[in-house]
Amino acid sequence: MHKNNIPIRLNRSELAVPGSRPDFFEKAASGRSDIIFLDLEDSVAIEKKDKARKNIVDAIRNLDWKDKILSVRVNSLDSDFFEKDISDLLEIDNERLDLLMLPKVNSPNDVLKLENIVEKIEKKYNRKKKPGFELIIETASGLINVNDIASASKRNESLHFGAADFAASIGAKTMSIGGTSSSYGTLEPLKKNNMKRNFFLNDIWQVALFNIVVAANAWGLRAIDCPYGNFNDDEGFNVLAKSAYSLGYNGKMIIHPNQINLANQIFSPTVDEVKEAKEILQVIEKASHQGKGAVAFKGKLLDIVTIKQAKNIVTLSENILNKIKNK
Ligand code: GLV
Ligand code: MG
Repeated sequence: MHKNNIPIRLNRSELAVPGSRPDFFEKAASGRSDIIFLDLEDSVAIEKKDKARKNIVDAIRNLDWKDKILSVRVNSLDSDFFEKDISDLLEIDNERLDLLMLPKVNSPNDVLKLENIVEKIEKKYNRKKKPGFELIIETASGLINVNDIASASKRNESLHFGAADFAASIGAKTMSIGGTSSSYGTLEPLKKNNMKRNFFLNDIWQVALFNIVVAANAWGLRAIDCPYGNFNDDEGFNVLAKSAYSLGYNGKMIIHPNQINLANQIFSPTVDEVKEAKEILQVIEKASHQGKGAVAFKGKLLDIVTIKQAKNIVTLSENILNKIKNK
């Protein structure tokens, strides 16, 4: 089993910018999101697809994207636009693009089709830089095949969860993008004397989120959570983002600049987390010099596996510091 050797990229906030709104591009380029994805897919009306593609090609060529990681979400393979999207993006004499995002990935074969067409054009035009692939898991088939999708190409960098399309694909009755469903839950058993029973809300996306983060990590990819459509609800965004961070997600796709700082903060370890992780590494190192595998720390047992958890936190904080330093 190979693990992808992907470039280290912070992916805490990944801002969607519709290709039909070039007036937003400059602000996005000078904003604080880790990644920008210029969208050709679902935020662009059918009659604006051609214009949006032109806007994006022009902007890749002419706009100063600084050190921003730049991605484009193309239309899905089963659309009439996919091939033209890819060819127009790669037939230009410019290698600024870092990533290509493919939505509605259903199977490993979809990834191979993407790889094939991309590599054909790269060869023809002798392109040196090879953009990585970001794959959105947002259909029933995509979730069933997530493991094979994750391993289908060495160019895969990340798996993303698309809650809105996924809801539509399985017939879930939610209408908000990436939000919760107030009906998806369970009621306490009947109580004596007609006492009021508590309703407990369940997380409708738990299984999908779990399977995606597992597949991503099995193959060395980043896992990115879905957008949250209600951009006036910071509290709702924060709770879901924190939950995704706790589960192992690297970041969230976002649909509004208001959400950039929230995501950057939540998907960064806190000062206390980093301090504790460093202490843990010291304690365990000392213990191992004394020939001990397990050791007590603040009343809790630590062992070798805790090193891996602590290292994840320290590495993430170092990557963030490096990004700040290089600004
Ligand atoms: C994102 O693409 C979604 O469908 O939620
Ligand atoms: Mg979608």
